[in-house]
Amino acid sequence: MRKPRIAILGATGVVGREITKISEELNIEYESIKFLSSAKSAGSKINFKEQEYVVEEAKPEVFDDVDIVMASAGGSTSKLFAPEIVKRGGMIIDNSSAYRMEKDVPLVIAGVNDEDLKWHSGIVANPNCSTSQLMLVLEPLKKFGIKRLIVSTYQSVSGAGLAAMNELRDDTKARLEGKPFENKCFKKPISFNIIPQIDVFCENGYTKEEMKVVNETRKILHLSDDVKISCTAARVPVFRGHSEAVDIEFEENAGMVTPAEVRSILENAYGVKVIDNPDNFEYPTTRDADGVDPVFVGRIRQNLAFDNGISLWCVADNLRIGAALNTVRICKKVTEMGLYRGA
Ligand SMILES: NC(=O)c1ccc[n+]([C@@H]2O[C@H](COP(=O)([O-])OP(=O)(O)OC[C@H]3O[C@@H](n4cnc5c(N)ncnc54)[C@H](OP(=O)(O)O)[C@@H]3O)[C@@H](O)[C@H]2O)c1
Repeated sequence: MRKPRIAILGATGVVGREITKISEELNIEYESIKFLSSAKSAGSKINFKEQEYVVEEAKPEVFDDVDIVMASAGGSTSKLFAPEIVKRGGMIIDNSSAYRMEKDVPLVIAGVNDEDLKWHSGIVANPNCSTSQLMLVLEPLKKFGIKRLIVSTYQSVSGAGLAAMNELRDDTKARLEGKPFENKCFKKPISFNIIPQIDVFCENGYTKEEMKVVNETRKILHLSDDVKISCTAARVPVFRGHSEAVDIEFEENAGMVTPAEVRSILENAYGVKVIDNPDNFEYPTTRDADGVDPVFVGRIRQNLAFDNGISLWCVADNLRIGAALNTVRICKKVTEMGLYRGA
């Protein structure tokens, strides 16, 4: 068994940079590693484990000697290269939405449904950022039987990439200085504003982002179509970290699920940290999650609209658990489980 030969595709982007950083932090095993981008950033330099690497332009032949590709270069790039990677015997852990709902592609949150990795046939998909943080919270509560789920997201601009982060900074500066500003990434000005649209609208009036939360949650947690799920996703003028208000209705036969019970379960759950002492103004805010791994949960309370329901607030770093951290964790799992070529 040899260690995997790794490539990071989209290494110069917001998520790719984070993947690089976390790969170093989590000490991934590799025989070789390369960093790939489009022609635009090819030739630039990346430091990894005190060694300098030159970023290469992604072309089919660069995947000849690669076993695992961690990709965050957009859906069309994944569509272009995934078949080339698979054809060459490699596998891709993809951050884009291109393959998430394909039947033969496992959609995985490491630590939640690792077993699904066993049936991959070259492509593993990483869920949408707002779905990802929610899964670590819902998985331990699934045993009560989820009947209905309502999620409202407050998503930071880094979820839309580097250009969107620059737009928030430049728009804010222009507004404070009373200068005109033309928004390009967002349909409305993002500074001092909240935009109730992420991604395009679907025929049913929901946005594609909202439907990702609905469909991906069902796929990852293996929930039946009888479980009703609704989501409203809003973009907020925050650089990093997504927040979510979550209302969960449980099956009647689960018995009354209490906030104390949920608090105790989540305190011991993988990847979750509970901060929940409102009397002392202790609850998680977006800033608490900046640059760290846990999904923070607070404001756990009995839901007043459901007969047997819980409401809670959950916050996480969208670039880590929502994308890069999960990708690197999956890469480690695939390596440990020997699920790559050459293992
Ligand atoms: N941001 C998040 O919170 C988040 C969360 C989950 C998933 N995602 C997904 O991750 C992906 C990347 O997002 P991001 O926010 O990191 O975007 P980004 O900052 O715009 O970075 C895009 C990266 O992809 C590369 N790229 C673009 N076209 C390419 C091509 N044809 N061939 C090779 N490389 C190409 C870019 O290289 P150049 O530098 O050469 O342009 C850059 O490295 C998207 O699919 C996004 O939906 C993002």
